[in-house]
Formats: sequence, structure tokens, C-alpha cells
Amino acid sequence: MHPVQSALRLPPCSLLIAGRWQSADSSFTVTDPATGQPLAQVGSATIADAEQALDAAVAALPLWRRSTATERASLLMKWHALLLEQREWLAQLLTAEQGKPLAEARAEIDYAASYINWYAGEALRLAGDWQHPSVAGRTLLNIPEPVGVVLVLTPWNFPAAMITRKLGAALAAGCPVIVKPSEYTPLTALALAELAQQAGFPAGVIQVLPCATPDPVAAHLIASPQVAKVSFTGSTAVGRLLMQQSAATLKRLSLELGGNAPVLVFADADLDAAVAGIMAAKFRNAGQTCVCINRVLVDSRIAKVLEQKLAAAVMALRLGVGTAADTQIGPLINQRAVDKVKQLVTDALAAGARLVCGQTLVPDIGHFVAPQLLSDVHMGMTICQQEIFGPVLTLQTFADEQTALQLANQTDGGLAAYLFGADEKRNYRVANALKAGMVGINVTAISDARIPFGGVGTAGFGREGSRYGINDYLQLKHLCWELAD
Ligand code: SIN
Repeated sequence: MHPVQSALRLPPCSLLIAGRWQSADSSFTVTDPATGQPLAQVGSATIADAEQALDAAVAALPLWRRSTATERASLLMKWHALLLEQREWLAQLLTAEQGKPLAEARAEIDYAASYINWYAGEALRLAGDWQHPSVAGRTLLNIPEPVGVVLVLTPWNFPAAMITRKLGAALAAGCPVIVKPSEYTPLTALALAELAQQAGFPAGVIQVLPCATPDPVAAHLIASPQVAKVSFTGSTAVGRLLMQQSAATLKRLSLELGGNAPVLVFADADLDAAVAGIMAAKFRNAGQTCVCINRVLVDSRIAKVLEQKLAAAVMALRLGVGTAADTQIGPLINQRAVDKVKQLVTDALAAGARLVCGQTLVPDIGHFVAPQLLSDVHMGMTICQQEIFGPVLTLQTFADEQTALQLANQTDGGLAAYLFGADEKRNYRVANALKAGMVGINVTAISDARIPFGGVGTAGFGREGSRYGINDYLQLKHLCWELAD
């Protein structure tokens, strides 16, 4: 048996509605992607459960929106403290159901908690303004108010941080939430919710609805005019669908969708720093991260050296179950993900790509893909156009800055982009010209609660984290007030 399974303490595996854990009529199995072994049976929400959750959130709205900033901040701070207190438990659950190495799972819990901490502060700083009137005797006030009930749809790749990044802002703004976590990783979501209960959030402020087949439940909630907003992290295809479904009720949307991040390596770059940065950003979470580097674009004069250095680093990666102390690359989330990555590689090789290196020893159980480096790829290949979401790195060369930019920007959307080089004037020029919501310059570890996380074009819209993130959960009300003398 998988070492974690025997020791794994499970959260309540049911539905959180109106401050109570409620059983469901049916359940689904959550499995460990490293072993295929079952971890837990989790209650599966129905449309009737979704209705109840919505009623509870709607009922909680008047009180929650009128709670004071201090009350909201203090609940968020209690939750934050509990997340850190239970860091090891949460990390073990996360690795068990998601597969990432324990060190990464612990880092994700810290990252997740940092959003709650950040938004506790933002709750206290929430402010409107007064405007000088153009007509004597009038008072003009601009007041931010919560948008209302928010449906939060979260992915499996960051089962903790993607929930707290959304909930921190929504709760600080005064919005009750209904969370529908990925069916692959509901345990982390339920554990976060259990700790939120312990922190003392009032009944109805947080609902969690795990579902075996999420689409009908999500679609039902999106159709309701009582849901004011949907916040989603996931694929561009699903983002498009949610936008269509939201059109009827003109819902507000925040969409954090797929990226296809390039890194530009100029001839004057510190190559060792570039290799370290590329490896960290590409192979984080086995390549299953929206801001993962998909495409290395390198000045042709240094391409050979960079290729050799990257190949050595790729071959040194240690693949295995996330609970083993030395694992750097865990499994992918499911067989579909494995098949997709393998197909991208097969198609690229058939179209003329060169396999620079690839590991050959892959565990024979679990959803593993060998880390690989492909060279001689071009933008006509699907592997350069789609998010790879697996441990495969591609390399292409450029002759000058203009070509580098052309290659980097040859996608419909951009979430993150990175560049390495010593000429700061060129770095600034290139960073400004890159089609991306976020650019790392001589650095790839850019994720932080204080940055506005989000993309442009088909990578989505809205920003999460930072002082800007709360605006997605607020609407401005203007009061034009004729005051009697
Ligand atoms: C994501 O993959 O969507 C999130 C990654 C991050 O926050 O760094």
C-alpha cells in the first residue's frame, strides 16, 4: 500500500452547506495518481444540493456584507493561523490526491495561506471616496460594495492555492461563496473548509460542493440570477463555455486560463541562472502549472551550450511518488493527461523535432511521464501552440530580438513570459513588448500573493492576488446626495 494512504487523516468527505456537513446520496472515489489506489469516497453533490447551497449563500449575504472589516479580517487571520498549524496534514492530503512532491505541497500550503493573510489586510484597507461636487450642497460618495454570491470553480493542479486566492478576495470583499473543487482533488478543499469552520466563519458564508460529474451542478448554478459572479481557473475551452453560459444572466467573470509561456534567453544571459530558472519553472508540479515554461527561445549563438546544460539538468531529475523524500517529479493527474503529453511528443517528433534527451526509467504504475527535452521545434507544431501540461521542454532558436519577440508572441493569449539577459534597456523593451499578463526578468519564481496574477487574450481576464484582486469582487455604488441646509 502507498505509504501515505495508511496514515492519511481524511477531512469530512461530504458537502458543506449552511455551516453543516451534509451527506450526499451518492459518492465518488478519489485516487492517488502515483499508485492508482483509492484514497477516499467523497459525497457527490446533486442539483438539489446546489440549490440548498445557493439558498444558504443568499441567506448569508445580508449579514456578511454588513460585517465590519475588522470582523472579516479577524476571521481570515484565524483561518490563516489554522492553515499554517495544519500545514503538514494539508500537504500530505495534497500530495496523496494530486501527486506533487511533498516539498512542493508544503510550499503550496504556505502559498495558499499567504493569500488569506494578504486579503485579511486588504479587508482592512477597503475604502471608497468622496468627490468634490459640481453643484453646491451636494455630497458625492463612491462606495465599493460586494458583488454578491460567488461561484468558485477550482482546478486540480493547485488544489489549495487556487481556492484561497479566490476566497481570500471574495470573503474580504463581503461575498459568500460556493466552491466546486475539481473532482480529482476534493480532499484538500474539504480540509480547507473544515479549518474555515474552526476559524468561525458564519453559516452560509462558505459552501463546498464536491461533485463526481461537475458540469450539471456548475451549469445549474451559473444559470441562476442569484449567483452574481463566477471565478474560474482552468482551460481556455472551459472558460469559453462558462462565458457562454453566463451570458444569459450577464454574470461577472474572472477567468484564469491556459498559458503557453515562452522564455527568451539572450546571448548575454547568465546561463547557469537561466538553466536554474527554466528548470524550476518548467518542472514545477511535473509541468502542470499555467505559468510553466513551454517554449525556450534561445539566441542561436548560445543554443548548443544551453541545450547541453538543460539536457544534463533534465536527466538529473528524480521521478517518483510524491511522498519519497528525494522525488522532484511526481505523476500527472490522470491517464488522459499522460496520453495527451505523449501524443504531443509523438506528433512533434513526426514533424521533425529532435529528442535531445529523455529519461527512460518510469515507474510502471501511476500516471508518470518521463522528463524530456525536444529541440528543432517550430511554431507550426501543436506542442508549441498548446499548453503541454507535462514534463516536456521544447527549444527553438532566434537570430535577433525581433524574431525572438515574434516567436514569443505567436500565440492567442499570454499568461506568463520570462526572459534572461544582461542588457537592462533591452530587457525593459522586450518585457513591454511581450504578450503576457506577467513577465519575469532574470527570474522565473514570480508567483506571490502581492502580484496581480492573470493573463491577456485567450489566457483570460481579471486579476487575482495583490491590491487589484479584490476589485473583481466589488462593484462601485455612487451616492449623489442633496443635503438639506
Ligand atoms: C496556476 O497554475 O494556475 C497557478 C500557478 C501559480 O499560482 O503559480
